Amino acid sequence: MVVKDKAFEKYISSEELAEKTREIAVRLNADYKEKRPLFIAILNGSFMFAADLMKEINIESEISFVKVASYEEMESTGNVKQLIGLNENIFNKDVVIIEDIIDTGRTIVKILEEFKSLGANSVEVVTLLQKPKSNEVGDQLKYVGFEIPDKFVVGYGLDYDGLGRNLKDIYQLKD
Ligand code: IMP
Ligand code: MG
Repeated sequence: MVVKDKAFEKYISSEELAEKTREIAVRLNADYKEKRPLFIAILNGSFMFAADLMKEINIESEISFVKVASYEEMESTGNVKQLIGLNENIFNKDVVIIEDIIDTGRTIVKILEEFKSLGANSVEVVTLLQKPKSNEVGDQLKYVGFEIPDKFVVGYGLDYDGLGRNLKDIYQLKD
């Protein structure tokens, strides 16, 4: 399978993704039974996972979507990340963030800080994939689908330079 200019091989099948998604949903349905959680999916990457996960959620809950915009400051001190599109009042809510992948963990750390500062009652993270570099925030990730090696993956919402999000399986970059 070639995406843009690189060769990928199948890594996680759609059947395995569906099974793992159901397992996570079973846990969420139990853990949030009395809580009416607010799920917040981080676009774009998590759109497919979020849709499949929510179909397995059978408790009263809300879902909303945000985007993380990154931009370089003038005197580039690094990547500044900003949440856009958050219209919900999350004060006192039990927030469950839905992510596609945690790599270094920088994005999720920023998101966690922001939600906590907005007065959420609780904030937990569901991520389909986790790479080893993110071990520092690893403790804060309660629901992890697959721990994967530090190799680039594409498909099921994840992109390579904007391409490949539509693939129903997840593919890994060939050596
Ligand atoms: P972090 O801030 O380093 O954790 O970066 C997380 C973001 O990097 C994800 O939301 C993805 O958009 C992107 N990313 C990291 N690894 C991959 C990958 O293997 N495939 C596609 N996108 C990735
Ligand atoms: Mg993402």
